[in-house]
Amino acid sequence: MLDFLSDLKRTHMCGELRASDAGSKVVLMGWVNKRRDLGNLIFLDLRDRSGIAQVVITSDAGAEVHDRATAVRSEFVVAVVGHVKLRDTNTVNKNIPTGEIEVIADELRILNDCKPLPFTPADAVLANEEVRLKHRYVDLRRPEMQYNIELRHRVSIAIREYLNSQGFYEIETPFMTRSTPEGARDYLVPSRVYPGEFYALPQSPQLFKQILMISGFDRYFQIVRCFRDEDLRADRQPEFTQIDLEISFARPEMVFRVVEGFLVAAFSTIGVELETPFPTTSYDQAIREYGIDKPDMRLPKMTEVREAFAPENLETSHVDPELPVVAIVIPKVGELSRKERDEIKTLFGERKDAKVFEDIKRLEKSFPDAVVKIRNLAQLGADDLIVIVAGAKRTQAASAVKARQQAYGVYSAAGQLRLALGQKYAERHGAFKHGNFRLLWVTDFPMFEWDETEQRWNAAHHPFTSPHEQDMDKLESDPGGVRALAYDVVLNGTELGSGSIRIHRQDIQAKIFKALGMSPEEQQSRFGFFLEALQYGTPPHGGIALGLDRIVMILAGAESLREVIPFPKTAKAVDLMVDAPTPVSERQLKELGIAVVGKKDL
Ligand code: AMO
Repeated sequence: MLDFLSDLKRTHMCGELRASDAGSKVVLMGWVNKRRDLGNLIFLDLRDRSGIAQVVITSDAGAEVHDRATAVRSEFVVAVVGHVKLRDTNTVNKNIPTGEIEVIADELRILNDCKPLPFTPADAVLANEEVRLKHRYVDLRRPEMQYNIELRHRVSIAIREYLNSQGFYEIETPFMTRSTPEGARDYLVPSRVYPGEFYALPQSPQLFKQILMISGFDRYFQIVRCFRDEDLRADRQPEFTQIDLEISFARPEMVFRVVEGFLVAAFSTIGVELETPFPTTSYDQAIREYGIDKPDMRLPKMTEVREAFAPENLETSHVDPELPVVAIVIPKVGELSRKERDEIKTLFGERKDAKVFEDIKRLEKSFPDAVVKIRNLAQLGADDLIVIVAGAKRTQAASAVKARQQAYGVYSAAGQLRLALGQKYAERHGAFKHGNFRLLWVTDFPMFEWDETEQRWNAAHHPFTSPHEQDMDKLESDPGGVRALAYDVVLNGTELGSGSIRIHRQDIQAKIFKALGMSPEEQQSRFGFFLEALQYGTPPHGGIALGLDRIVMILAGAESLREVIPFPKTAKAVDLMVDAPTPVSERQLKELGIAVVGKKDL
C-alpha cells in the first residue's frame, strides 16, 4: 500500500541535520539507502542529494509505523515525520556529517516502492559499467555521481559568471547546420523537406563564432554541445561540451589571460588556487623537453645530454651523433632490481629509430666521464631513476625535413617512456597524486602536417588559423617550417583546449587554401558562405575552446568522461539506457527519402 504525499512538506534535507537540531521536529523525504531490522528497532538510512540521516523506528511509534518500516526495502521513496535526538556517545558515527544525531520517527509514509535492482547506491562494490549505464537513474543516485554532477554545475556557473564579468555575451549558434572544419566525421540529420539533403550537427561553433566577430559582438562565449563521429576513448565522447569563446582584435596573450581567469574560477570550486599566468612553451621546446605537444609537467623535463659523450663513444654504442641523446629522470624511485631494469626495455619496446640505455651503472663502466657530466646536466638526485634514450645510427643521410622528423621520433620515443615510467613508479614519486595540477600553454604549433598516405599538407589546427606574420614567406617554399598562431592549454598531460588567432584577410586565406591543395571549387562548396562573409569588414580576431567534460573529469579525479556526463555513450557510441541508436520505421525512412542499403556489423 502506497501513501500519498498529501499536505506534508519537507522541512530539512537529510544531510543538513546537526547536533544543534536536537529536539526539533522534522519532515524528511528521500530514498532508503539501507534498512536494518533488529525486531523492535528498525533503522533506515534515509538519503537525498545532500547526504544521509539515520531514522529510527522504535516500538513507541506504534504498530502501523512499525509495519510500514518492515515493508520498506532499498530505494523505496519515503517521508518521515519525526524529531531529532542526539545519539549516545558510543553510537556516534564520525564518518558522516549527520553522525551525531538520529531522527526518531513518529510517522512514516511510503511514497513509492522500487523493484529489486541489479545494484543499489549503497553497494560497497561498484557494479559493472554496462549495468550502471543501463540503469543510469540509479547509478546517478550514488553519492560519487551526485558529487560529480554537482561539481559540473558549479564549474559551469563559475565560468559563466567570470566570462560575463569580462564583457562576454553568451550567444547561441545553430545545431542544425553545415559541416564544420574540425576534421572528424559529421553526424548528419536528414531533411524531410529536401529529400537527399542533410544538415550536419556542429563539430564546433567555429565559423559561427568568427561570423559573430564580423557582426561586431566583440566578445562571445558559449558553453555548447559539439558532435563528432570519431573513435572514442576515455577522454572522448561523440557529444561533448565546449567552453567556446572568441575575441575581436585579440592577441594570443589576451586569450590566455581570459582562459586563466575562468580556470582560476573553475578550480576554486574545489578549493584549489591556481597560480597565474601559466608557463608558456613553444611546440618545438615541448617536443625537445617532453617528447610530446601536451606535456605532463608533474614529472621533470628531459635533458639533452649528447654533449656529455665524445662522438667516438656514440659511434661505438651505435648511436647517431646527429640525433638527440636525452636523459629521462623520474624522481625518488630508488634502487631498481635487475628484473625492473629489464622491464624498462620492455616498456620502451623494439624500435629501429631509437635505443634505450636503462642501466646508468653499466654505462658508467664504459664511459665514466660521460656519466659524471650526465648526472650534472640532469641534476640527478640520489634516489632518482635515470634512463638515456638516443637516436639509432642511421644507415643513410636524410633531407632536412626527414632529419627533423627523425629527431622528433627520438624525442617522442623518450617522451613515451618518460610517461610510462612515471605511471609505473607513480606511488614512489607521488607526483601523480590527485590535487597536483600543472597547467601550461603550448604555442607556435606548426601550421601544416604532412599526410604521408595522401601525400599532401593538412592544416594542423583548422584552415582558418593564422600563420605567424614572420613566416608568411615560407608558405610556398617551406610549408613544414611555417608556425601557426595556434595554442593549446594543457593540464597534467591532457589537452584541455585549443585555439588560434584567425585569418581575417581574404588574400591570406586564399594562400592557405592553396598551400593545402584545396581547389577553388572545394573551397566554395565547403566554406563559400564564410569566404564571402570574410570580405565584408572582418576585424582581426582569435579565440579558443576548452573541453568542459575534461576539466570536470580532472577536477573530480575521475578516469573517464563517462563519470562526469549524466547520460554518456559507451565506447561504441551507444546510449544503453534509452537504447540509441535504433532502427526507425519504414514510413519515417520513406518520408526522408532514405533507403538503408546495408547494415554494418558492430
Ligand atoms: P578542438 O577540436 O581542439 O578545437 O577542440 C577543443 C577542445 O574540445 C575538447 N574535445 C573533446 N572533448 C570530449 N570529446 C571529444 N570528442 C572532444 N573533441 C574535442 C578538447 C579539445 O581541446 N573550434 C576549435 C577551437 C578554436 O579554434 O577556437 C576546436 O573545436 O578538450
